[in-house]
Amino acid sequence: MNVFLKKEIASNYDLYYQTEIGKKVSQIEENLFNDLLIDVPKTEMLELGCGTGQWTEYFINQGFKLTGIDVSEEMLKIAQTKNLNADILKADSSHIPFDDNSFSAISSITMLEFVEDQDRVLQEIHRVLKPNGWIILGFLNANSELGKNKENDEVFGKASFLNPEKINQKLHAFNKLKMKYGVYFSPTFEILDGNSEIKVEPTFIAVIAQKKI
Ligand SMILES: C[S@@+](CC[C@H](N)C(=O)[O-])C[C@H]1O[C@@H](n2cnc3c(N)ncnc32)[C@H](O)[C@@H]1O
Repeated sequence: MNVFLKKEIASNYDLYYQTEIGKKVSQIEENLFNDLLIDVPKTEMLELGCGTGQWTEYFINQGFKLTGIDVSEEMLKIAQTKNLNADILKADSSHIPFDDNSFSAISSITMLEFVEDQDRVLQEIHRVLKPNGWIILGFLNANSELGKNKENDEVFGKASFLNPEKINQKLHAFNKLKMKYGVYFSPTFEILDGNSEIKVEPTFIAVIAQKKI
């Protein structure tokens, strides 16, 4: 279920990234991709579920040429105010409005959790991606404290989180898969560092993989 169609959810989305904890989370997540993207040529990229453009800006700064799509007009309105150097349009990732084999890279950060049919979207990604093209995906981990305690949350309650094992299974049409983990929340949602004695599963999973020829 896509709660981001609602104006009140969309208009509060970027506020999180302005909080101290939101800034830390975003830095940790970006560092994971900084490492993974070393292997990926910086060509044209389609970003699915670009939302308010948080990650669009990051990918542009990495050297990609961006096209972003999202189904939420409310999220896109906010992205448009940022004057990003990207083509941004309203479209559904279950019916991507581009030809087969048209992008060398397709990214999507925490969108698959909110789509109705994840397998359908993955088929679409596979169709639109060029042979040997790269997927760059960010997931919220079902095994994390957030994943285990999301039921009553307005944003995450109805979302379908995956865990590393399920992600591996779903990406069977891709190879050279690499995963990196980060953002360790305690049960009371403080960010833990790597030396903490409290053992929890990571919240964020960064993935890259390549389309088989
Ligand atoms: C958690 S937000 C993530 C936004 C952005 N990627 C980020 O990380 O800041 C999920 C986004 O996915 C979008 N979305 C959900 N289902 C979609 C679909 N079928 N096609 C395109 N976008 C979709 C939502 O509208 C929302 O903007």
